[in-house]
Amino acid sequence: MRVISVLSGKGGVGKTVITANLSAALAKLGYDVVVLDANLTTPNLGIHFGFHLAEITLHDILKDIDKLKGGIYIYPGGIKVIPGSLSVEDILDVDPSNLSKVVANLNSDFTLIDSAAGLGREAIASLSVCDEVLIITNPDLPSVADALRAIKIAEKVGKKIIGVVLNRVGRTRNELKKVDVESVLSYPVIAQIPEDKLVQKTVNERKLLVYSYPYSKAAIEIQNLAFRLIGSKYRISPSLFDRLFSWIKL
Ligand SMILES: Nc1ncnc2c1ncn2[C@@H]1O[C@H](COP(=O)(O)OP(=O)(O)OP(=O)(O)O)[C@@H](O)[C@H]1O
Ligand SMILES: [Mg+2]
Repeated sequence: MRVISVLSGKGGVGKTVITANLSAALAKLGYDVVVLDANLTTPNLGIHFGFHLAEITLHDILKDIDKLKGGIYIYPGGIKVIPGSLSVEDILDVDPSNLSKVVANLNSDFTLIDSAAGLGREAIASLSVCDEVLIITNPDLPSVADALRAIKIAEKVGKKIIGVVLNRVGRTRNELKKVDVESVLSYPVIAQIPEDKLVQKTVNERKLLVYSYPYSKAAIEIQNLAFRLIGSKYRISPSLFDRLFSWIKL
């Protein structure tokens, strides 16, 4: 069982999009995947799966571990999702200290943990319960500076850093290049996810890009990241027909 926290430092760089779609990519490969929303004050992982109105949430489970079974929702394809609560009351009095108990009670090939932005109590709680960390950043200096801080903290607490995912590549001109990011962070960029309009479209439709548009630019790279995570050398390289089909669907 691998427990991986998805961390960035800076907010809004694509942690939730990547966590949700990486879970789909791993599930497509036949792995048993649990994904949980440790972004406890601004949880929105559930929205990506359409489980945002879940009756039992991670917030309830943190208060009462016996609720764990009832708070796991199965997405078509088999992904097990533990969403957070959208209730302001739940968010205000949440205590992340039981997160380790929750994770210890999960049994799957992969547990992916979507983390909060920043490096405060919530993000640290997510970091403390994992074995491995996936760092997400955008190709700009503020995101990379925050990613560096996240890496330093992860190193300090002895977590294995799998690598860096550069997201929203190609969004702007004059962005940082892979080599620049690698030289600042001293870890390899293991995936470059391009800017892709279909990301926003699928988020708004509460669908997963990797299922709805598996040959879209971003979905291909997220699936290739999944191959990399499992140690496979296989990479998807779509035919012209696949690309065209994806484009027509848009
Ligand atoms: N590769 C991409 N192409 C286009 N849009 C993207 C891409 N990745 C993420 N986005 C968009 O960026 C926005 C932020 O993504 P997301 O919510 O996953 O970030 P986050 O790091 O989880 O944010 P927070 O720190 O607030 O939790 C969303 O609107 C999402 O649709
Ligand atoms: Mg998020």
